Amino acid sequence: MAVAAPELVRLDLEHLIHPNYHPSEHQDPLIFVKGRGAMLYDAAGREVIDGLAGLWNVTLGHGNTELAEVAAEQMRTLAFASAYAGSSNPPAIQLAAKIVSKAYPNMDAVYFTTAGAESNESAFKTARYYWKVNGQPDKVKVISRKFSYHGLTLGAMSATGLPMYHTMFGPLAPNFIQIDPPYRFQSPWGDLPEDEFGIKTANFLEEAILREGPETVAAFIAEPVMGAGGVIVPPKTYFPRIREICDKYNVLLIADEVITGFGRTGKWFALEHWGVQPDIVSFAKAVTSGYLPLGGIIMSKEIARAIREAPAGQRYMHAATYSGHPVCCAVGIKTLEIVERENLVERAARMGERLLRGLERLYELPAVGEVRGLGLMAAVELAEDRQTRKLFDPQKETAKRVLAMARDLGLYARAVGDRIELAPPFITPEEVIDRISDILYESIAEVTGR
Ligand SMILES: Cc1ncc(COP(=O)(O)O)c(C=O)c1O
Repeated sequence: MAVAAPELVRLDLEHLIHPNYHPSEHQDPLIFVKGRGAMLYDAAGREVIDGLAGLWNVTLGHGNTELAEVAAEQMRTLAFASAYAGSSNPPAIQLAAKIVSKAYPNMDAVYFTTAGAESNESAFKTARYYWKVNGQPDKVKVISRKFSYHGLTLGAMSATGLPMYHTMFGPLAPNFIQIDPPYRFQSPWGDLPEDEFGIKTANFLEEAILREGPETVAAFIAEPVMGAGGVIVPPKTYFPRIREICDKYNVLLIADEVITGFGRTGKWFALEHWGVQPDIVSFAKAVTSGYLPLGGIIMSKEIARAIREAPAGQRYMHAATYSGHPVCCAVGIKTLEIVERENLVERAARMGERLLRGLERLYELPAVGEVRGLGLMAAVELAEDRQTRKLFDPQKETAKRVLAMARDLGLYARAVGDRIELAPPFITPEEVIDRISDILYESIAEVTGR
């Protein structure tokens, strides 16, 4: 029997601890009870646009019955069996092969996880493993970037470059180093021409490797387009230069494609935009369109060979109960089949351009510092002064107030600081895409009074 909304809120406050939690921000939670396509419905019957596709993951939209049926059928057939070495199952095998066929040409094999953090943790450990097998056991350090988000585990948190995730959980794990990202809007070098800016910020990696000693650095991890940090799109020179530096110093390049993987930027994998191939790809989220928890790493031929050809004493002792979960993998296969059948990667590119064009109209409002995006991920960064890039006083919580108003007008989205983030489902209808920028226009104008 359905429980009334006020009772649900009471029980929630009494018994549920949420991600990023403080009860002061949770007195009037939206309790979602239903989703259809790009729309969510709360317990009070209100309809909102799911402006972030859940948490960047629900690419196919809500209520997809094909996915529901595949999950039910796989549960009836085989809900779980161990995928530890010596056993396997058809969905895991078929999904791994499918993912490799869609990934960068140098990719060869998949290890499955259940979330993005676990994928990044697996990437770090696999990088260390690779260097140990290759007789360089001191290559253990991981370099990452400020403003990045890589997940909640101790290693992934230590690579994460958003300090609020560290404050109450420090100290960070040793051997994690962070450099500045190519974030033009808030950078003292933001006036440089874009290509030069890309090279200059990529060179921070070379400086860090030399400072640490190349013989100690295992890997560099980067989101091709930073998501949670505020949809930071790199200049086109950035990743080609990063690849050069990684090659020069024998440092593995890990692409954290937990958000960008499987079509979000308008390509199957985002480094394709710049003709770059990583050594390891972390993925999660979109592989099942968020319907079930599944993630993993895709590894290059060279790394897969290191694992396959290692002597028995150097076995890849990396394990999790739910690696290769048959139900999650069956839903993954169906998700990718639908993305292909409906040309949704191409649609994400087209809808992304439409969204960005709509958002550019927000430049009529002086409180809009920058609008940026790639494919179907975009951000509106609010600022007190666009020319000098002076930000609003964080105490004013401008974006938070804008989003509260947007929510009342029918758009649900998130912000980090004053960076409002948008990533609707790939199937979002054109008129809903247009409505997103209309609602934001109205909300920003109303809240900032200009
Ligand atoms: C780029 C990136 N990496 C890793 C993660 C962590 O994924 P999860 O929350 O599934 O552990 C996220 C989560 O949003 C992410 O955006």
